[in-house]
Amino acid sequence: MAEVIRELISEEKVDARIRELGEQISKDYAGESVHLVCILKGACIFMCDLAKRIRVPLSMDFMTVSSYGSGTQSSGIVRIKKDLDDPIKGLNVLIVEDIVDSGRTLHYLTEVFKERGCKSVRTCTLLDKPERRVVDLDVDYVGFMIPNQFVVGYGMDYDQRYRDLPFIGVVEFTEE
Ligand code: IMP
Ligand code: MG
Repeated sequence: MAEVIRELISEEKVDARIRELGEQISKDYAGESVHLVCILKGACIFMCDLAKRIRVPLSMDFMTVSSYGSGTQSSGIVRIKKDLDDPIKGLNVLIVEDIVDSGRTLHYLTEVFKERGCKSVRTCTLLDKPERRVVDLDVDYVGFMIPNQFVVGYGMDYDQRYRDLPFIGVVEFTEE
């Protein structure tokens, strides 16, 4: 079996959409500042590009989470592997994700951050697979809705590979 990556969303489309998200976020937080929280590793490229398009004062922090279970399916238990460096009390937190699938990660983090006393918590994701949702979650900023396909590139991996691709692609397996 050979792997090929089929382009789903081009580099140009990703770039244009991030500019739009930056505009919207800048309007919504006008007169305020925003604290971007990157969910590593998948969201790192997206968050850096998004930050360049936001025109209100901002700060950044980084977190690593994992959701694991006994089998191949996620158990829905989200664990913080690397916590934020700094307290978020009183800040306008914007959680930045690469992709929302079941919704458990963002749902859990939103609750945790509210308990830490931030002024506001909103969520931003580059991609959303709404068909896969198992928890009730409204994401505030969504780059693109996509069908239920496994995607890579622009920070997202398959077995730690393909994060460096400048576009978003679907992994396909072919007989060689
Ligand atoms: P959720 O908690 O089920 O919403 O899981 C979201 C996380 O699953 C994302 O942050 C990704 O790390 C991972 N994920 C879900 N779908 C994909 C995909 O198609 N490609 C790469 N990672 C994915
Ligand atoms: Mg992720």
